Amino acid sequence: MTHPLNAATRFVARWPQSIGLLLVCAVFSASTGGCNSSGSDGIVLGHYASMTGSEATFGQSTNNGIQLAIDEINQAGGVNGKKVRVITYDDKGDAREAGTAVTRLVTRDKVVAVLGEVASGLSLVGAPVCQENGVPMVSPSSTNPTVTKVGDKIFRVCFIDPFQGFVCAKFARENERVKASKAGILYDQQAPYAVGLQEEFAKAFKKLGGEIVSTQTYQAGDPDFSAQLTAIRASNPDVIFIPGYYTDVGNIAIQVRKLGIKVPLLGGDGWDSDKLGKIGGEAINGSFYSNHYSHEDPDPRVQSFIKKYKERFGDTPDGLAALGYDAARIVCEAIGKAGSLKGDDIAAQLAKTKDFNGVTGKISIDADRNAVKPAVMLEMKGGQPTYVSTIAP
Ligand code: PHE
Repeated sequence: MTHPLNAATRFVARWPQSIGLLLVCAVFSASTGGCNSSGSDGIVLGHYASMTGSEATFGQSTNNGIQLAIDEINQAGGVNGKKVRVITYDDKGDAREAGTAVTRLVTRDKVVAVLGEVASGLSLVGAPVCQENGVPMVSPSSTNPTVTKVGDKIFRVCFIDPFQGFVCAKFARENERVKASKAGILYDQQAPYAVGLQEEFAKAFKKLGGEIVSTQTYQAGDPDFSAQLTAIRASNPDVIFIPGYYTDVGNIAIQVRKLGIKVPLLGGDGWDSDKLGKIGGEAINGSFYSNHYSHEDPDPRVQSFIKKYKERFGDTPDGLAALGYDAARIVCEAIGKAGSLKGDDIAAQLAKTKDFNGVTGKISIDADRNAVKPAVMLEMKGGQPTYVSTIAP
């Protein structure tokens, strides 16, 4: 007979066809006092993610990447002979839901480590819960520097925003197609990611001799950006930096072009979704963003990952899928080396991660539990992100 949890995990792996089935595990956990995370049953990891909502592709792609990694690890015999399972909860991109999800993972499901979140604002909610409970958390993709400062159990496998802001500023100043001396900024004032990244961009842009001519704000989900964009237009910038998430950015791009603004738009990794081109349409083409990975990277490791991912999920992995894949593998490697399921032991091994060959580059965890890695610049062309350049740290 199939163990009910294994069945639940398989359904989760086939997301999004089985939306309601996440509940299966939640209900199961509730009725038995939690999934056994350390018995002969296997090793249980937790994942909290925006599987629905305006950032849904963040969670879905990350979850796909994680599932692919875990299946490969299990096919190769598991971790120290134990099979690995992941319980994923949908936080809907909402802070309160994220807190509930992480609390449930660490106190009830008793997971040995937590993967997530993508959005820095949500990682900042989950991280204190993990830290207090001594459960290591690895964010695949939160770039705000404060996330890992929460404590010694909190890690990430991506670069951070002081670097990303610099990368964008340098690109804006130096790229032949942009060569900006004046930049406008439009950012979500409630997202820690956007607040931090626009600060870093402005700092670097000024340092490189540029001028910020207008800084405007919005709130996620706003339908109308015309007041802010009219002010930005009046300041006559050469580029507009929009460090937001893809749904808002797509909508903003449409309104930018409607107002007759022709300059390129520039953003960070928050643009990374196949939905960006679908929402923004023609308006987003010719704009640029920084990211963790390009599907055009000829590295055989990257191409083999893309092939496996396409076979399984039917589409080309985005950066989040790649980061989810790397994060899951790094966590499993650390558990394997720890030879124990204790949070302290796993965290100690995570901290030692060095030159891990990821699909998002070589990953070494530094003293602040961050990864130091190059970034890529991508251009939206025909609705697709296309590779422009790589910037080393
Ligand atoms: N870096 C973003 C944040 O911190 C999340 C993100 C990463 C989004 C990669 C898309 C791709 O909120």
